Amino acid sequence: MLRLSLPHIDEAGIAAAVEVLRSGHLVHGTQGNAFERELEAWLGCRHAVLVSSGTAALHLALVALDIGPGDAVLVPDFTFPATANVVQLVGAIPVLVDVDARSYCVAPQAFAAAIEQWQGPERLRAVMPVHEFGHPVDMTALCALARRHSLKVVEDAACAIGATHRGAKSGTLGDIGCFSLHPRKTLTTGEGGILATNDHALAHRLRRLRSHGMERDSCGLQFHEIGFNYRLTDFQAALGRAQLPHLQGWIDTRRALAHAYRIALAPLQHQGLLVLPAADSGHSWQTLMVVLADGIDRSTVISRLADAGIEANLGAQCLSAQPAFRAFARTPDEAPNALRLYRQGLALPFCERYGSAEVTRVAAALTTALQDSHA
Ligand SMILES: Cc1ncc(COP(=O)(O)O)c(C=O)c1O
Repeated sequence: MLRLSLPHIDEAGIAAAVEVLRSGHLVHGTQGNAFERELEAWLGCRHAVLVSSGTAALHLALVALDIGPGDAVLVPDFTFPATANVVQLVGAIPVLVDVDARSYCVAPQAFAAAIEQWQGPERLRAVMPVHEFGHPVDMTALCALARRHSLKVVEDAACAIGATHRGAKSGTLGDIGCFSLHPRKTLTTGEGGILATNDHALAHRLRRLRSHGMERDSCGLQFHEIGFNYRLTDFQAALGRAQLPHLQGWIDTRRALAHAYRIALAPLQHQGLLVLPAADSGHSWQTLMVVLADGIDRSTVISRLADAGIEANLGAQCLSAQPAFRAFARTPDEAPNALRLYRQGLALPFCERYGSAEVTRVAAALTTALQDSHA
């Protein structure tokens, strides 16, 4: 089966993780500290804080910004549910905003309109742009909007390590950026997450919160506030360190693969069978999702591709269509783009280990599946 993606774990990474396992020091330590310094250099931010998942990163970001009951946070309606789960976990409410049909991200103007329209009793405190599948949100416009309305910016860059906007890395431009190190992501430690910030006080609090709210000072260990155990293990950090020197090369390969896919699938777009995603030059291409034309049954296409030995799947969820978030949908059809992307989006096999042979194979199988289902 041609898998949707393959984690890139090589022998050097395995050896580095095994060395830590043999050392007997498994929790966050020298490897984690070194990985954080290397990530700060790679991302171009002042502080990188490792945690146990992208969800943990998002959760800690909101806790560290003191967002809680009585607050509201703007969230895209098309994303992985973790983005909105954490808003509810801190006692705030998500305000769901529809996304753009081609970038799959919320445009800053759409966030602006949602801010103007907001009438709830809760106070709007923050905006969480999601750089969906690696497409960079225009953070210049978004940060200016947030400043005008005194909102904090928490970037959900779970899928977007290496994406850039005007030369700066996505996830380093708001108050806090959150990355995931899940195996579907370009850089992976199995599970894991990174918080990026340029604010020294925030970084200090994030480090304390990830480890039970504790700090060591001249009196010994002190528990300063209620915290979590969201630490990444040192053997996971060693695995990540082994991959980091290759990351930019992998992203460049992914950009070339996206280009090859766009050329191979262009005829299907011309025939009106699917729509290709927007191709911003700063896109880091964690996932390539096309959108099937209305009337094409996606589950039939997925099983036709499976028959041809190709894995395909939906891309992400429309939150207002999920039971857990339905209460936050203001009208049933307020997010038509998110709903369509959720129902008709098709993620295709995509990672830096694939090349033109895989693209040709997927394009041929998809062409057959779509032409049959349309006939
Ligand atoms: C946009 C987005 N946010 C958050 C997450 C959660 O990351 P993790 O699985 O590392 O908790 C994901 C995971 O796929 C995601 O796609």
